[in-house]
Amino acid sequence: MNHSWVEIDIGRLKQNIRALRSSVPSETAVIFVVKADAYSHGMVPVARAAAEEGINWFAVAFLDEALKIRTALPDVNILVMGLVLPEHVGELLEKRIFPIVTCLEHGLALAEAARAMGKTLPVHLKVDTGMGRLGVQWNEVSATVKALNEAGGLELIGVCSHFARVEPDQPDHASAQAEKFNEALKHLPAKIFKHLSSSRAALYFSGWDLDGIRQGIVLYGYGANDPKGRFQTKPILQWKARVVQVKKVPADFAVGYYSTYRTEYPTQIATLAVGYADGYNRALSNKGDVLIGGRRCAVVGRVSMNWITVDVGPDAKVKMGDEAVLIGQQGEESVWADELSKICRTIPYEILTSINAALMRKYV
Ligand SMILES: Cc1ncc(COP(=O)(O)O)c(C=O)c1O
Repeated sequence: MNHSWVEIDIGRLKQNIRALRSSVPSETAVIFVVKADAYSHGMVPVARAAAEEGINWFAVAFLDEALKIRTALPDVNILVMGLVLPEHVGELLEKRIFPIVTCLEHGLALAEAARAMGKTLPVHLKVDTGMGRLGVQWNEVSATVKALNEAGGLELIGVCSHFARVEPDQPDHASAQAEKFNEALKHLPAKIFKHLSSSRAALYFSGWDLDGIRQGIVLYGYGANDPKGRFQTKPILQWKARVVQVKKVPADFAVGYYSTYRTEYPTQIATLAVGYADGYNRALSNKGDVLIGGRRCAVVGRVSMNWITVDVGPDAKVKMGDEAVLIGQQGEESVWADELSKICRTIPYEILTSINAALMRKYV
C-alpha cells in the first residue's frame, strides 16, 4: 500500500497541449519545458505523451535530463537551458542536444572543444535582456557573435531570452525586454530560430510568438484559467495520501507538536501518511485543507515529517485506508496547487516541484 502517491492525467495533458497548440500559429514551435522532472510530473512519461501529441521540442535545465529524453525520444529537438561544460561537447554532438551559450567565455570554451574534435557544434545564444541571470548582455551580442564567428567551431542556430516580468495590464517591462531582444537580433542571421516567450507571455501576447515559445506551467495546468488569455488549461496532477488512523476525540483535545491546535468540540481526527518529507509544506500547518470523502477537511496541528492530522468532523464515516486528496479533486470539491501556494506565500511551481520525486507516479 502506497502511503502517498501522485496521479497524472495524461488525457488532460494532451488536451492542454491541444488548447495551446490551436491558439498559436502553426509555424511557431511549442518548446515544452520539462526540467525539474517535468515540474514533478515525471519527465519521461510526460515528454512521451507530449511527443504523441506532436510536440517535438523539449527544454531542460541540465545535460543529464536531456540525455534521458534522448533515450526515450530519439528524434525530438532538445535544448539545455543551463550551462553545459566543454568536456560534454562530444555527448552533445553524438546525442544531437543543443546547449545554450551563456557568455563569451563559455562560447569560446565550447568552440575550442568542438574544433579539437574537428566538428561544428550547433548552439543557441542566450541573451540577457533584463532577467539578469544567464546570458550575454543584449548590448554585447554584436561583439560576442563577432568573436565566436572568428573562433569557429560553433554554428549559431538559435537565439533566446527570458522575460523577468510579464503583466498583461502593464506590458512596459516585457516590451522593453522585447525591444532589447530585437536590437540583439540585428547582429544575428535573419533565419536564426528565435524564442522568447514563456507561459505568461504566450498567454497574453501573440506578438512575441516568433519561431518558438517555451512553455512550462500552463501545460501543467496552472496560470491559464483567465478567460482573457489566449487559451485555457487545467491541472493534470493529483496528489493523494492514505488515512492511517481515525480517532474520536473530545473538545479541548491537543493535536500535534507543541499542541498548536485544540479541538473546539468533540470530533474525529484523521492522521494521513504524508508530511514535509514528502514535500507537504509546513506552512500548511493549521491552514491547509485536504479532501476526504468529497469534503474539505482542515489540516489541524503542525505538519510533521511523515504525517499530517486533519479534522474530519464528528459524523464523518472516514476509516483507516481511505484515500485523501492533497492536490486535486473529489466530487465537487477541489484543492489545487495555486490555493496551497497562496497559503504558503509561494508560487504553484514551488508547490509542485517540492513533491518528493520518490513518491510513486501513476499515469492515467
Ligand atoms: C529560461 C526559461 N524558459 C522558460 C521557462 C518556462 O517557464 P513557465 O513555466 O513560466 O512557462 C523557464 C522556467 O523556469 C525558464 O527558466
